[in-house]
Amino acid sequence: MCGIIGYIGSKKASTILLKGLKNLEYRGYDSAGIATNHATGHIEVRKSVGKIEEIARRLNFESFEGNIGIAHTRWATHGAVTDENAHPHTDCEGKIAIVHNGIIENYRELREQLISKGHRFTSDTDSEVIAHLIEENLQYGFEDACMKAFDSLEGSYAVLALKEDEDKIVGARKDSPLVLGIAEHGVFLASDIPSFLEWTNKVVYLNNYDFIIAERGGVKVYNDGKEVSRHIDTVEWNVEEAKKGEFKHFMMKEMSEQAETIMRALQQDKNTVWDIVDEIKNAFGVFFVGCGSSYHACLAGSYLFSKVAKVHVNAVLASEFENYEHFLTDRTLVFAVSQSGETADILLAVRAAKRKESRVIGITNVVGSSLTMEGHALIMMNSGPEICVLSTKTYTSQVVLMTMLAYAVAGKYEDGLEKIGGLYLEVYNLTSRTMRDSLTTLAEILCDKWDIYLIGRGLQYTTALEAALKIKEVSYLHAEAFAGGELKHGPLALIEEGTPCIVFVSSENRSKILSNAEEVKSRGGYIIGVSSEQDDLFDFWIKVPEAEELNPIVQIIPMQVLAYELAVLRGLDPDKPRNLAKSVTVI
Ligand code: G6P
Repeated sequence: MCGIIGYIGSKKASTILLKGLKNLEYRGYDSAGIATNHATGHIEVRKSVGKIEEIARRLNFESFEGNIGIAHTRWATHGAVTDENAHPHTDCEGKIAIVHNGIIENYRELREQLISKGHRFTSDTDSEVIAHLIEENLQYGFEDACMKAFDSLEGSYAVLALKEDEDKIVGARKDSPLVLGIAEHGVFLASDIPSFLEWTNKVVYLNNYDFIIAERGGVKVYNDGKEVSRHIDTVEWNVEEAKKGEFKHFMMKEMSEQAETIMRALQQDKNTVWDIVDEIKNAFGVFFVGCGSSYHACLAGSYLFSKVAKVHVNAVLASEFENYEHFLTDRTLVFAVSQSGETADILLAVRAAKRKESRVIGITNVVGSSLTMEGHALIMMNSGPEICVLSTKTYTSQVVLMTMLAYAVAGKYEDGLEKIGGLYLEVYNLTSRTMRDSLTTLAEILCDKWDIYLIGRGLQYTTALEAALKIKEVSYLHAEAFAGGELKHGPLALIEEGTPCIVFVSSENRSKILSNAEEVKSRGGYIIGVSSEQDDLFDFWIKVPEAEELNPIVQIIPMQVLAYELAVLRGLDPDKPRNLAKSVTVI
């Protein structure tokens, strides 16, 4: 939910940290701050509420001296959005500064103990206890004080600490992401790779409970009290992929990349695919688990498996997964689907499955994320960095992977690859200028409406759910999806003169869904058809190709574009919707 970055090296820390913070802003953006270890040896902290660009200007981040520093961008969990609650937090004397991502579950007890020992707190956050705990143990020296402080924390943390007159950053991670970047001029410790990709693509994925001391001469990593060596990886992502380029927003850029990213999702090691196919065939119970858009991809997967592979799988929301725990055995197969690989609910589901000795296969986009380390096997989505908070290209990649697996289980792997591969041009055209102009016209019609309803049947129902999520996340309009057949069981009561209803049509269920649309139209509804063929019922038509099992891909893309155009027309920032974060590390 928050993003952290630290730098120690030969360059000016504040310049590097500011760029890093901008790249991390998608993880949280209600407040931000920087602390540097000043050339004169003292710690300087500047932090405030607002967007990074504006805070950096107001507090003149660039004027910070020193080439050791830590920084944080916040998405509030404990304590309101105030300057005091922004990170970095300091100890009573202002000699120690920390930044933290995660949740300290035992912070209340720790805080009371520390207050009874005379510590003075200045924020309402759970994180501030870390700075005071280090201060409390300083008689053991800075490094050991940090180790003792981190040992007493319960919950999740990626934490970085600085102390005046100490030429180092001390960090640790438990259940929150922290990666190490090794550049020629210095070392980075950060929540994700894109935050430092401009300077290096050499990374070290840190394990749970790793304790790190980063100094100018090098980095030491300890786990369970012993020094350990960690492998240095080279990541393939390039800096351009993590930049907006000619686009105004990351959302538009990422939507436009889908013709490519869909193809990249297909590039999987064949042997791994066959192993997974065997696991599916031999499993006694298969679950697809995810949150938000990833859950919708799971749901689409459950329909695809039924349709294409004739195999029953259960799609379950990760936050509801504990209700299914008693069905788990050592023969159960759980697919944990998460773009970020860091969503707390999904990681809890993974751990629940592992407790019951079930097999866990992670499907994720983020190299080095917790999910890549916690599952038994892994499928990478290969979408490249997705910066906009909303999942767009990663959603279609997840659906592609589900489709590819369904075809593989059906014994038609090559057919599946060919079918999906054949979509390249169609997908490319779905974000063309012509399509965007038509969707801007529709956005102008919809942008002042209170409610938008969306209906579909079968696979198209899952698209309706995902499209509704896209619209509400980014435009703040109320959008709600229903299975076409459910309209008559309640939702029809909501239809008034002019109420917009988006109808997803496929050749398979055309007559049924159009008869549902008729029910809406006859009560005054304004019908927007998403289909390959025009119909008299439609007040507005979005033309998409008929792609059968691949309809979830071609039908969602115009909806992503519509959601984007609605946000832009309403004067909102599509990349950073209010109250949301890309990586949700709280339950
Ligand atoms: C957040 C994001 C959603 C995303 C969901 C699941 O809520 O705002 O866009 O779908 O998390 O994220 P994951 O990384 O697990 O796919």
